[in-house]
Amino acid sequence: MSGGGRKKTACVTGGNGYIASVLIKMLLEKGYAVKTTVRNPDDMEKSSHLMELQALGPLEVLRADLDDEGSFDDAVAGCDYAFLVAAPVNLHSKNPEKELIEPAVRGTLNVMRSCAKAGTVKRVVLTSSAAAVSGRPLQGSGHVMDEESWSDVEYLTANKSGPWGYPVSKVLSEKEACRFAEEHGISLVTVCPVLTVGAAPATKIHTSVPASLSLLSGDEAAFGVLKGIEMATGCVSLVHVADLCRAKMFVAEEDAAAGRYVCCSVNTTIVELARFLADKYPQYTVKTDLLSGERLQKPRVRLSSEKLVREGFEFRYRTLDDMYDDMVEYGKVLGILPN
Ligand SMILES: NC(=O)c1ccc[n+]([C@@H]2O[C@H](COP(=O)([O-])OP(=O)(O)OC[C@H]3O[C@@H](n4cnc5c(N)ncnc54)[C@H](OP(=O)(O)O)[C@@H]3O)[C@@H](O)[C@H]2O)c1
Repeated sequence: MSGGGRKKTACVTGGNGYIASVLIKMLLEKGYAVKTTVRNPDDMEKSSHLMELQALGPLEVLRADLDDEGSFDDAVAGCDYAFLVAAPVNLHSKNPEKELIEPAVRGTLNVMRSCAKAGTVKRVVLTSSAAAVSGRPLQGSGHVMDEESWSDVEYLTANKSGPWGYPVSKVLSEKEACRFAEEHGISLVTVCPVLTVGAAPATKIHTSVPASLSLLSGDEAAFGVLKGIEMATGCVSLVHVADLCRAKMFVAEEDAAAGRYVCCSVNTTIVELARFLADKYPQYTVKTDLLSGERLQKPRVRLSSEKLVREGFEFRYRTLDDMYDDMVEYGKVLGILPN
């Protein structure tokens, strides 16, 4: 792409975030020009990594808020691809309808409208979640879930158990984005990642990394997220952030890509993860007191990325060992683990 012609341009929403920071880095390394958005470009504490990433290639940082209609017009204008990554992710919201579900759907449609206006976007890649796939009542074990499976909004809304608003926000955002894309002739692909791990340029983050290190850090609130996932879905499924971002680029660039893509490389349980961590990091004491009560020994459910693999994508981080290689160092950078 650097052969003198115009660089392909990609918009990545929410550049301050964990996953977006890796995607921006990879796009720049691949020769893309990148336009990213943050809510407050003056908040250097959150976005200093973006200044560092500017050394890799053309990276423009623009102000945009999912709540403000038309806010993403400039960011998307002239782009070949739009990666919708920003979303409200406050799992512990007291009022999920108003603070999570409605803003997520409204914000997704807001960016989709900017894409329609731009008229240059060849493909939109929406970051959904495995939470939009596996939140359903299940009996027994041995279930395999793929892109055909949707979390059950009626069941989740009726039970209101755990962080129920998050899966609902992801299902409704995905469905509304698909409806809008069809109505406006936009090529939309959605990626549904499982719990995402691995190091990233962003250093002020609070989502999946604290949860996936909670057995080492002893952070009970972060462990609660892991426990909630296992209880709600019958497994703890993981993907490395580098594989996730490569998968997003893959489905953006492959003309034939269409529909949803589950992005998962390992299905495990808290018990298996605890055993693995104790073995890999003998210098830490795995907080076995967190494991009290009856715990799942083997996953009852497996999330399948067969569609991605069938279409030619290769995961590079296929085992827990691969995935956790850079996690302890990153955990130290984030202040989750002691130095
Ligand atoms: N991490 C995972 O394991 C995982 C798994 C599946 C799916 N996902 C999805 O992946 C995406 C990124 O998640 P992440 O883990 O990278 O989380 P993150 O680090 O918290 O990133 C979320 C980003 O969204 C931005 N955002 C939130 N509300 C916004 C608003 N009203 N306007 C503009 N931006 C807003 C945040 O900006 P501020 O910095 O200004 O708050 C932040 O940059 C989300 O859609 C999430 O649902 C994550």
